[in-house]
Formats: sequence, C-alpha cells, structure tokens
Amino acid sequence: MRYAHITGWGKFIPERVMTNDDMAKLVNTSDGWIRKMTGIGQRHLVGPKDSCATMATAAALEALDVANISAAQIGMIIVATSTPDYAFPSTACLVQDALGADNAGAFDLSAACSGFIYALGMAADAIKAKSVDYALVIGSEVMSRVLDWTDRNTCVLFGDGAGAVVLQGSDQPGGVLSTVLRADGSGGDMLYVRSNYNSMPETVQAAEVVQSNGGPGSEAPSCNGYLKMNGREVFRFATRILEHATRDVMYRAGWQADEIDVFVPHQANIRIIDSAAHALGIPTEKVFSNIEHYGNTSAASIPIAICEAASLGRLRPNDKVVMVGFGAGLTWGAAAVEWGTPRILNRTNRTLNRVRLGAAGMRSRARRAWRRMEDRLAGADDTTHSPPKAPHPSHSHEKSNNGHSTDPVPTEKVPLKAEERDASKL
Ligand code: ACO
Repeated sequence: MRYAHITGWGKFIPERVMTNDDMAKLVNTSDGWIRKMTGIGQRHLVGPKDSCATMATAAALEALDVANISAAQIGMIIVATSTPDYAFPSTACLVQDALGADNAGAFDLSAACSGFIYALGMAADAIKAKSVDYALVIGSEVMSRVLDWTDRNTCVLFGDGAGAVVLQGSDQPGGVLSTVLRADGSGGDMLYVRSNYNSMPETVQAAEVVQSNGGPGSEAPSCNGYLKMNGREVFRFATRILEHATRDVMYRAGWQADEIDVFVPHQANIRIIDSAAHALGIPTEKVFSNIEHYGNTSAASIPIAICEAASLGRLRPNDKVVMVGFGAGLTWGAAAVEWGTPRILNRTNRTLNRVRLGAAGMRSRARRAWRRMEDRLAGADDTTHSPPKAPHPSHSHEKSNNGHSTDPVPTEKVPLKAEERDASKL
C-alpha cells in the first residue's frame, strides 16, 4: 500500500508588520478590542516586490530544502489561493517555472481558507494512487489586496503570507491517513469577494441577474473586489464545523480525541479555536496557535502553523496531528496526519535547488525569446501584451531583508476613494 508523508515544510512571511496600534490609526479600533475579540496582535503585509507567486515560490523552496529533494522530482504543484496574481496563468504555473520543476503538473485550487486542506487531500490521493511520487502543496495569500481598509469589521482580521509542504510517496505506513472535504454553497453570502470580472457585457450581466437567486451574485455590490463578511454567522458556523470535521476525520483515521498529539486549526479567531478545542476535549497545550503574530492568512494559515510547529519541535515523529480548516464557500476540511521522520538537511540538494532557480529564470527568458522568434519567422502578428513573468523569490527576500520599506497596504487595484482607502496615512 502507498502512503503520502509530509517530508518538507517552509514558509514565507513578508517583512512589513502592521500592529493593532497601526490599525487603530486607520479605523476606529483598538489593540485591546482586537486582542480580546480575535487573539490577533499584528499581521504581516506584502511589500511592492512580493506577490502571491513570489511568496509561494519562497515557501516552496524552503520546503524542498527540508525534504531534501530537487525541484525536478516534483510531479504535482497545487497552490491553494483566493488571491492569485492572475486569473490565468495559475500561480502554480508561475511557481513551477520559477523553481524549474520540469516534471510537474501545476494548478491553483480555490476553496478560500479551507484551500490548503483541500489541496493536501487531493495531492495525498494522487500519491496514494501512484500518479505521482512527490507533490508540493502550497497556500499563499495576499489578503491585504482584497480588504476594505475602511471596514473595521474585516480589515483587522487578515494578513499576508505563504506556507508549503512536500508530500512524498512511501510504502512505510503513516502520513496523511484520512481527509474530509466538504462544502455548503448556500452559505456563499456569508463571506465573499466579488471578482473584478463583474464588469461584463450587458447581455451577460442580464443573464446573471435572471439566474441569481439570493447568493452573493444577487447583490448589487457597493464595490467589487473587497471582502464582505457576516462575522457573527461565520463565527457560529466555524465553532460548529471545526468540532464536526475533526470528529469525522478522527473517526476515519480510527483515532480517539485523547490520542491527538497536536491540533492545528485554521487561524481565524482564538475564540473559535478555544471553543472547538474545548468541545473536543483537547487540552490547550496540544493546540497550536500563532494567530497573534500573523492574523488570518486564509489558505496559508495552516501550512504556516505546521511549519512553525515543526521548527519549534512541537511535531515529533509518529505524532498524531489533526489539521482542520473552514472558510468561504462555505467550505471546510480536515486531515489526520501521522507525522514523519525529519530529514537531515543536505547541502547538495539545497545548492542544486538554488542553481536550478537561477537557471529556471534564464530558461524561461530563453523560451519566451524563442517563441517570439518563431512567431516572427512564421510571419505572425507581433503580440503587444507582455506575458506574466515567473517570480523570483530571492527578489522579495532581498527587498525584505534589506529592510526597505514597503509600500503600505493596498496601492493596487483600489477603485475606492483614495483618501478613504489609502493605508499610506500610516
Ligand atoms: N474594533 C472595534 N469595534 C469593532 C470592531 C473593531 N475592529 N469590529 C467590530 N466592532 C464592533 C461592532 O461595530 C459592534 O459594535 P456595535 O455593537 O456598536 O454595533 C461590536 O463591535 C460587536 O460587533 P460584532 O460583529 O457583533 O462582534 P462579534 O462578537 O461577532 O466579533 C468578529 C466580530 C471578531 C469578526 C467575529 O464575528 C469573528 O471572528 N467572526 C468569524 C470571522 C472569521 O473567522 N472569518 C474568517 C473566515 S475564513 C475565510 O474563508 C476568509
């Protein structure tokens, strides 16, 4: 029988920190309220050089190092994100190109904050079915770009970042033992971001109005592209579903609640986490939470937490770990994972991956140049659109580590009044 083990993990956290006190300069809130009601103390926000893809690539590179494998061994890359840089190409394709993962299929997965668990489940199934031997599962989010920075109900809750794991096929029992992936689209109006594609031709819009029957699509939005949430309803749903999904996945893995060594829930609100842990009878010391430092990073929250728990020695070989998430859709999911044996970092593979990263950039440019030349030779019309370039994570690292300050929050795609939305007041 084939098993899917987590053998590598990595994260990328943007340099810029926005504290609750910073937030209080933007909207009518306070450090006391945010900490008490959510457990959040600060969040990190992307700088001008960071993007969904650069963060995902940086996290993936770290995960490859820990797994001690080369990017060429990866057979599948899934990026769970609701905030991709492009509708297409997928963020996963940008990551594939940047890493030089020549043997990988790549696609994005949209399941909001549950996205990482969905992606983990799908990749584990592909490994168990022997379709691939290694998979990269990444959660990467630029939530700051979809927040309404005048809405204190939502803008205080989220942050940016990325986390990644490497899944490896093995005949040794363990790894991802069971997953639960569920959805209830009737709750779509509780939490949503309208896409910017809503400025459609009139005929299409008319069809949409006729078809809509009460979901998020039925509302005339005051602004496209910004997160809307009914916090109370989401809170009620989340506390119920975390317990339910955890029980379900434990049952499938054949575990009892008192056998769980580490509980890693989606980091949305400390009160939701505490309430679920209490209902499940899981003691506080077995619950991993880092919400205080990062806020809710949506699909990135669980892999960032896993990465930190592993680095802090909280995850030991053979530990029984339950990860559980919920999010817009509504979606929810859980995974029961028997933690694997840590790998020894091999400097050769690490160096190889850095060399491959540099070579991948050159190869990508060469391929584009070749295509343009082929176009010209074939007498085709010259294209005026510049294609998306694969990200280079070292750029974002360099920028951040140099401490160059990053432009405040959402400077791009802000159709709202600048004086209302501009976080550069800070
Ligand atoms: N600062 C100060 N006051 C605030 C703030 C703030 N940032 N936000 C809201 N308030 C006020 C409200 O205006 C309200 O004031 P009023 O009584 O004068 O009207 C009061 O606080 C209570 O507001 P509620 O929204 O009822 O507060 P609630 O107890 O529900 O807490 C919260 C709000 C923290 C957002 C909570 O509802 C929550 O955590 N919900 C779940 C959110 C969540 O998990 N979202 C992520 C989903 S994952 C994904 O897919 C993206």
